[in-house]
Amino acid sequence: MLNETVLVIDFGGQYNQLIARRVREHNIYCEVISYKTSIEEIKAKAPKGIIFTGGPNSVYLDDSPRMTEDIFKLGVPILGICYGAQFMVYGLGGKIGKANESAAAEFGRTECEFDTSSKLMKGLKESSIVWMSHNDYIEELPKGFRAIGHSAKCPYGAIEDPERKFYGTQFHPEVNHTEQGFDMLGNFLYNVCECKGDWTMEGYAETAIREIREKVGSGKALLALSGGVDSSVACKLMAKAIGSQLTCIFVDHGLMRKNEGDEVENAFKDSGINFVRVNAGERFLTKLAGVSEPEKKRKIIGEEFIRVFEEEAKKIGKVDYLVQGTIYPDVIESGTGDAAVIKSHHNVGGLPDYVDFKEIIEPLRLLFKDEVRKLGTTLGLDSKLVWRQPFPGPGLAIRIIGDITPEKVKILQDADAIFREEIANAGLERSINQYFAVLTNMRSVGVMGDGRTYDYTLALRGVSTSDFMTADFSRIPYDVLEKVSVRVVNEVGNINRVVYDITSKPPATIEWE
Ligand code: XMP
Repeated sequence: MLNETVLVIDFGGQYNQLIARRVREHNIYCEVISYKTSIEEIKAKAPKGIIFTGGPNSVYLDDSPRMTEDIFKLGVPILGICYGAQFMVYGLGGKIGKANESAAAEFGRTECEFDTSSKLMKGLKESSIVWMSHNDYIEELPKGFRAIGHSAKCPYGAIEDPERKFYGTQFHPEVNHTEQGFDMLGNFLYNVCECKGDWTMEGYAETAIREIREKVGSGKALLALSGGVDSSVACKLMAKAIGSQLTCIFVDHGLMRKNEGDEVENAFKDSGINFVRVNAGERFLTKLAGVSEPEKKRKIIGEEFIRVFEEEAKKIGKVDYLVQGTIYPDVIESGTGDAAVIKSHHNVGGLPDYVDFKEIIEPLRLLFKDEVRKLGTTLGLDSKLVWRQPFPGPGLAIRIIGDITPEKVKILQDADAIFREEIANAGLERSINQYFAVLTNMRSVGVMGDGRTYDYTLALRGVSTSDFMTADFSRIPYDVLEKVSVRVVNEVGNINRVVYDITSKPPATIEWE
């Protein structure tokens, strides 16, 4: 059964993925496609609704993104957002005012009033804050349109042609700053497009399992499991679909967090698949001995990972399918064309191109990260794996500054486990996006009992971020930090000083190496 589909037409706006996520949060499947997509392709997808995203340009620029006006003849409801609304107005014969000719440009939080008799505004408060970000503005509406929202500066903050089911907002309903934005999108999807909301993770799992079975037949599939959310969920899904036809290789490089290797093994060993755990800790540590330069450490681990995987894969022989944990943001970022996208930088080591296989299966390629987590929960995956924070492929190797020894790995694992435990005890687990301990290679003088100590300094790091490209250090309460500090110094040994990292990214990075 095909899901109801809404198409998000990407005009180059910065929030296009966010729009798609909001639609999915309303339990409606949607795809982001380029404005260059042909009208035939759009028709073939039989969309229930279309959303035009914002874009950086003015409709008057020669190189501004445009699509064929046939889009307005499909009889499909359209919601234009910011540039998307201006493109619609312009394309249907209205007029767009240029920013430099008026003082109508608006940026940021703006009070807006709505006409709640419109289907788009049904059930909303008559006035609330919206997020504006535009230079040009809608000056004159095309025939058939009327205003259904306005701000002090903007007479056409929201518009509709209810006959043709065309709607537009000069503001961004998809961002959280627009107080009733989520409900407006819901109104568009349910009241205007008349969607039913058939996109659920239970439904997705069922369909995906059936399709994987049909595709794989009696063939064999191979998956590299890192223990991260994506590969773990992909593994669980594949396990349900094809059981013993799947072999899953988990290379434990010995640089995982405390007990993590066992947690991964426990989550999968009884799932009917061929689960291979390679305990390669000693091998990695031997290669890393005496190496302190961060890039060199990363390179050694990446290469060694490939080698170990290759050796194990050879034992299995030819497989038909290689399973990858690619998710939808990777697909969008690599372009919205039809060509299969093969992500080569997935966690440690990349795609092993020497493994002999016919085809790649990417069972999560339609899902956003939060949907991958929901799917994991639906499939009964251990919640520790579902809610696992991002963890770098090279593991603790880049959280031990300087050279790596088995003793240092043990010290860091124990200290990091205490930090994680106390964050969980304080109920902060899901509000801090990433938190971890770093073993610095600095030693300093302390006093314990009546004696002098000369031991390591442990650094704690916690960041809040949505995209991991920029990050702010988390304001972890002092009493939580104090508990961690006291426990680490008392319970771990070899650490006599604990510091908290209060740099953001930039100028620092999240990891220390
Ligand atoms: P930085 O330190 O660059 O980290 O601010 C940004 C995010 O990426 C994670 N990270 C990695 N993830 N392989 C990965 O899979 C890596 O080599 C790697 N290095 C950094 C980091 O934990 C943070 O979430």
